[in-house]
Amino acid sequence: KDIFKVAIDGPSGAGKSTIAKAVAKNLGIDYVDTGAMYRAVGYKASSRGVSPEDREAVKHLMEDTDIDFADGDIILDGEIINDKIRTPEISKAASLYSAIPEVREKLVEIQRKMGMRKSVIMDGRDIGTNVFRDAEYKIFLTASAKERAERRFEELTAKGQKVDFDEVLRDIEKRDHDDMTRALNPLRKAEDAVEIDTTGLSIDEVIERVLKEIK
Ligand code: C5P
Repeated sequence: KDIFKVAIDGPSGAGKSTIAKAVAKNLGIDYVDTGAMYRAVGYKASSRGVSPEDREAVKHLMEDTDIDFADGDIILDGEIINDKIRTPEISKAASLYSAIPEVREKLVEIQRKMGMRKSVIMDGRDIGTNVFRDAEYKIFLTASAKERAERRFEELTAKGQKVDFDEVLRDIEKRDHDDMTRALNPLRKAEDAVEIDTTGLSIDEVIERVLKEIK
């Protein structure tokens, strides 16, 4: 059987995880949400009071950290943390700690292992440019910042979180900027990636576009 990789990259709120999950199901392959892994680190480091400036402490924390997925759940050191990592605070923390080399090194190593003997679809910021540079299929998903903020606002509001739209938009723009300008593996479209602008497209339309690239 042929093993292949699908890399889906793009900015926050472009719909990467929704699309990747559906495409994985359609193709019968594993889905890996690398953003959840950076969120897990942000959650652990901030709840332990480990400052991103304290490189030595971050390094120790990473040596002592185990991140895995089981049945779509994200497991941090044996505990399911799905519900704890989808907040604006953890989004910021994830972005902050994701710029630290020791954090990226460890997570990229785990990600490459996850794709070693099976086909996977992985979403994030640096999958096509770094984690799986040789991926058979690369998709770069975008949408206008306003539309991405609207989607994120609805998602958080539906979960009962009290959020302000302008603040969500500002957070998205700040995270775009930080993710694109960091020194290590910044967010950018791989040269050989297919760009899909999802502004104004329905989820089903995007899934269809991505499946068309792969089949
Ligand atoms: O995709 P998600 O919004 O869950 O990612 C949270 C943060 O984790 C991003 O803003 C980014 O800073 C970081 N990240 C990363 N590389 C990845 C995936 C996520 O740096 N491959």
